[in-house]
Amino acid sequence: MKRTLDPWGSAAIDDYSKLFGEFGISSFESLIGEIPDPHPYMKRGIIFGHRDYYPILDAILKGKPFSVMSGFMPSGKAHLGAKMVMDEVIWHQKMGGDAFVGIADMEAYSVRGISWERCRKIGVDEYILSLIALGFAPDGHIYFQSDTPSVKDLSFELGVEANFSELSAIYGISPSTKIAHMISILAQSADILNPQLKEYGGPKPVVVPVGSDQDPHIRLVRDIANRMRMFKVEEREDCISVRSKDATADMLKAVAKQVGEETKVYEGHIDIYGGCDLDQIEEIVRNIEVDFGGYGFLMPSSIYHRFMSGLTGGKMSSSISDSYIALTDDPKEASDKVKRAKTGGRVTLDEQKKLGGESEKCTVYELMLFHLVDDDAQIKEILTDCKNGVMMCGSCKKLASELMFRFLTEHRENRERAKERLDEYGIDKK
Ligand code: TRP
Ligand code: SF4
Repeated sequence: MKRTLDPWGSAAIDDYSKLFGEFGISSFESLIGEIPDPHPYMKRGIIFGHRDYYPILDAILKGKPFSVMSGFMPSGKAHLGAKMVMDEVIWHQKMGGDAFVGIADMEAYSVRGISWERCRKIGVDEYILSLIALGFAPDGHIYFQSDTPSVKDLSFELGVEANFSELSAIYGISPSTKIAHMISILAQSADILNPQLKEYGGPKPVVVPVGSDQDPHIRLVRDIANRMRMFKVEEREDCISVRSKDATADMLKAVAKQVGEETKVYEGHIDIYGGCDLDQIEEIVRNIEVDFGGYGFLMPSSIYHRFMSGLTGGKMSSSISDSYIALTDDPKEASDKVKRAKTGGRVTLDEQKKLGGESEKCTVYELMLFHLVDDDAQIKEILTDCKNGVMMCGSCKKLASELMFRFLTEHRENRERAKERLDEYGIDKK
């Protein structure tokens, strides 16, 4: 008798659910019904959580401006985990987002001691070519932190709002930490806020796709974004109050004038009566802030994905090359890694026929679910056959390794084509 199965059901999601209550990450699942043509990562519970995704969803649905942003430290090979971020950036770009990808060479240089030259080479060879090969469109922005004045200037500005003790709490900074390391941390926050600068059209929702371990960075940048504001808008029982944090009397007057409702102007704040719309006032205030030389930042949003396990079981580790697959791996070698990967197979074939495989412990299943099988019906069939003991690990691995070979061969060809198109992305060939 066939059992019915939840195709994406994985025990792993439980490990993540504690992030919901404890850290204020919300479950992504309830949003999926509203998203037009959701990415397989969304449908399959791989993107499991978010912080403040609603403004992004609203922008997608209404065709309003928004951005997607992520960064990569050019310190080694780009593996399938980096591919997930790239896929998520590209998906949001297709949904209308202005896309930004920063190569965090300031971070690699200051934290990992990698020379500028190597940063450049790894940035292009490992990250940028694969990003383009996977479908990043040329109207997006790819940049190196170190040659992007807007990011560097903004890092300095953000340094006015962030202090030593909070960086040390989040990043394990100690008194002997190099100053350049701390600057590179601010550069990451600057990367994320950069799409909201005037030169890119001003304040707008920005979503940052990351692994859940990156949430502390997101919380920091949301905090800093808030502190950079010159006004604070608060909803009161009978009015909306616009308070100055750093705004002049002229700016408050400008707000009062534009709101056009019944307002009371006090020193340091104004109260607005007459049932006006909070969002509308937020927008007026934000625009005035920008007119007067402020930033008017919205707090960035984020989405969180589950991690893949290492192919050898346990975590992926850059020092164990069998544990991960890099986008530049030789297709034959990578497909051999798949053949050696840890499965959820039982000890004997008989047992497997009787009990079925343990797909939730199987790294080969994970590879197919995350990367190799786009077709929902096909992945469901694989899972059913595994669980019902109809398919054995040998043939399953063979399928996965063939799919891996095909994917990497095609990716390699696309990377070759990308090499010819670097100038469309403003990257000079070196
Ligand atoms: N610090 C990230 C890493 O170690 C890279 C990074 C730099 C980044 N800027 C970013 C990630 C902005 C997300 C958003 O990989
Ligand atoms: Fe994994 Fe496939 Fe074996 Fe199931 S049959 S445990 S999915 S390798």
